[in-house]
Amino acid sequence: MSMGSIGEKIALRLRAFNELPVRGKHFLETHRLIAEPDIDAAGIARIIEKDPWLSAKILAAVNSVYYSGRYGEISGLKQAVARLGLDEVKRISLAFSVMNIFPDESGVINSRDFWLHSIGAAMMTRSIAECAIAVKVDADAAYVAGLFHDAGMLFLAQCCPEAYRAVRETAAGYSESLLVAEKKLMDIDHAEAGGMVLEQWKLPEVVVSAVRNHHEPDCAAVPVRPLAQVVHLADFSCSLLGAGEPGDTLPQGFSHGAFHDLGVDPESIQQIIARTEEEIERTKILFHVV
Ligand SMILES: [Fe+2]
Ligand SMILES: [Fe+2]
Repeated sequence: MSMGSIGEKIALRLRAFNELPVRGKHFLETHRLIAEPDIDAAGIARIIEKDPWLSAKILAAVNSVYYSGRYGEISGLKQAVARLGLDEVKRISLAFSVMNIFPDESGVINSRDFWLHSIGAAMMTRSIAECAIAVKVDADAAYVAGLFHDAGMLFLAQCCPEAYRAVRETAAGYSESLLVAEKKLMDIDHAEAGGMVLEQWKLPEVVVSAVRNHHEPDCAAVPVRPLAQVVHLADFSCSLLGAGEPGDTLPQGFSHGAFHDLGVDPESIQQIIARTEEEIERTKILFHVV
């Protein structure tokens, strides 16, 4: 990137995203608490009750057409958790609160598509990390890296909406990959932009590196390479499920090095893909009912 180039100007603007928004902090904390393996229905209800916005969303979802035929009117959170079950409530809480972290004000990115892809990638990153013999990464770090791997798209769209709109039109019109179009028109791609901002937010180095290298995982520094490879594999698998890189018309390239290094057996990947497909479908319905 040369001095005074467009990339340099964008990098300057990205530096203004110098702190994780309060909503983001709140989300990570809530998610960490909800993900505790031994949490019970009362515990979940207590956590969600502290967030009036989320509580309202959950009650709206429970009483929507999607569920109400089955349960009748539900007015309290505890009742909602008891009726829906822990997993469903976790799914609903996550899906809604994640969309609230960085509401897209630019109108360039379809927020539902974006978060559907991100949630799918996050679930898959965590599951693959758990079953990859060669990887020792914290499940929480894996989840966060998967969830935010494409956050650079949101940052680029927010700091330069017109340029990013042109990038997406170029990618769609010329059958060029999104990454190539970003580099060509903005001199920086979403992986680099995401890594830069998450580093400013002081997220763990392994997460920052995974985000920065998710399209070229074999370029990551050796100690943090496994998570970059896992995110890459998760991202690629989401494309296979039709929840691909939002805004990209071309299927992304796949690093065979990643598959080889991780020591995951294809059968486990098949199972993870099947499970994620189901989760993505349920989340998709959820996004449409509320
Ligand atoms: Fe990406
Ligand atoms: Fe992606």
